[in-house]
Amino acid sequence: MKGDNVEVYTVNPYAIEVHQVKKSFGGVHALKSINLKVHTGTIHAIIGENGAGKSTLMKILSGIYTKDSGKIFIHGEEKNFTSPIHSKENHIGIIYQELALSPDLSVAENIFLDDLGMGNRMIRWKKLNEHAGRILDELGFPINPRTRTGNLSIAYQQMVEIAKSLAKDVNILILDEPSAVLSGKEVAMLFTQLRKLKARGVTIIYISHRLEELMAIADEITVIKDGETIVTLDPASCNEEDIITHMVGRKIETLYPEKNIPGDEVVLEVKHLATRTLLQDVTFTLHKGEIVGLAGLIGAGRTEIARCLFGIDKMTTGTIIKNGNKISINNPSQAMSHGIGLVPESRKEQGAILVRPIRENMTLSNLKIVSRLFGFIHRRHEQHISQMLRQKLNIKLGSIEDAIASLSGGNQQKVVIAKWLNTECNILILDEPTRGVDVGSKVEIYNIIHQLAERGYSILLISSEMVEVINLSHRVYVMSEGQITKELVGEAISEQNIMRYAIPKRNAA
Ligand SMILES: Nc1ncnc2c1ncn2[C@@H]1O[C@H](COP(=O)(O)OP(=O)(O)OP(=O)(O)O)[C@@H](O)[C@H]1O
Ligand SMILES: [Mg+2]
Repeated sequence: MKGDNVEVYTVNPYAIEVHQVKKSFGGVHALKSINLKVHTGTIHAIIGENGAGKSTLMKILSGIYTKDSGKIFIHGEEKNFTSPIHSKENHIGIIYQELALSPDLSVAENIFLDDLGMGNRMIRWKKLNEHAGRILDELGFPINPRTRTGNLSIAYQQMVEIAKSLAKDVNILILDEPSAVLSGKEVAMLFTQLRKLKARGVTIIYISHRLEELMAIADEITVIKDGETIVTLDPASCNEEDIITHMVGRKIETLYPEKNIPGDEVVLEVKHLATRTLLQDVTFTLHKGEIVGLAGLIGAGRTEIARCLFGIDKMTTGTIIKNGNKISINNPSQAMSHGIGLVPESRKEQGAILVRPIRENMTLSNLKIVSRLFGFIHRRHEQHISQMLRQKLNIKLGSIEDAIASLSGGNQQKVVIAKWLNTECNILILDEPTRGVDVGSKVEIYNIIHQLAERGYSILLISSEMVEVINLSHRVYVMSEGQITKELVGEAISEQNIMRYAIPKRNAA
């Protein structure tokens, strides 16, 4: 009889429940005990220092790693994923911290990589491109689906990653630092999409080191530290300082060091620089001990300037004058011989050699210093330098002999920066130096940049985080569409002014 057998369903309010999950890699206890409850249909942010265990937890939720112990429930059912296929079957999508696209495939191919036929056995290229184009349009990402993915800058590649995971039918979406390479405008577009997904009932886990983003988007924020859950907070009733205190276990008084006074001496003059693809008539100067910011939207040409000055990209016209002498730079070793160093935006492709030990990665740019005495790489000296840098930057690692790939994202970034800290270069170009770095370590990197300037180094700073550019730079050049549109000095360096000159004229209201 109907009615006799009524089962009582209690609606489970949680999309994800994690109980006492532990995970070790050899001797490293990445997760000591993680507890987490994520309400269905909410945006749940996770924050924690570099190496706290955020990515490890996400990789367990997506079946890349298996947990050592503990329990995981997805929509109330206990799950034990042992492969990424299982998480896909459970409609869990993830965007990894390190981009995982195939550079030789087109954007559309990457978006539908798991299902190129879109349900059919034959691949219909026209349809594939059209469909990918629609998804990108809807997201507001200005990317041609036929472009070879490897030709896109990292920010654009990140947009492709986002489109890729949104193209799937997911009801839990994990984003591990999706915004690290995006600037304000692109982050706003991403947030619009995330809010739409949330309205459709999708549960979202969002990892970022940018506090203002978490405050803006998250319904709840969980802080993890050294592999343990510290607290879950409601952003409506806490402020950024509270979060930082939970995260680093102490109060951070000042984020930015007081600006030094740069010298009068012009160290570098760049005149009428142009490239075949983007830059036009770029003219600027850099003084001794000065920090000069390059501001602009993605694609404005900031990274292109860095690449030209370091000899990676060819300039078609223009003059570079160093200490009053005209110089030519055709490749990175020429740039370095003129005292110009670059910390590139993509540590994976350009900055770090992932399979080599941390020790080597820290000293690679410095082989001259390391080998000077003996004419070969003196390992003890290399070890000494890397230990020193490790302490200075508070890099979390097991042994400096481990491969750099075993480090958390933020700690890899610190290694890449460390490499340039005792170089003989006196002009340093820093392209997104704090990408993926936690708040505490950001402060350390700011202090190092400041100290370098005080010691007479000249710094060209590129960052998508506008507050960083504003608070560190003595002068800022604003760029738009390959040109410098404005030079801002002192009090005039403000978010409003930067935006005013960063937005392409034809789009300006
Ligand atoms: N495959 C691995 N082999 C060895 N150690 C690892 C591996 N993956 C992670 N670890 C270690 O586990 C710890 C946690 O790393 P995880 O990547 O989860 O940190 P995270 O919180 O994501 O940091 P970040 O903010 O820098 O991305 C780190 O000490 C890291 O070095
Ligand atoms: Mg991580």
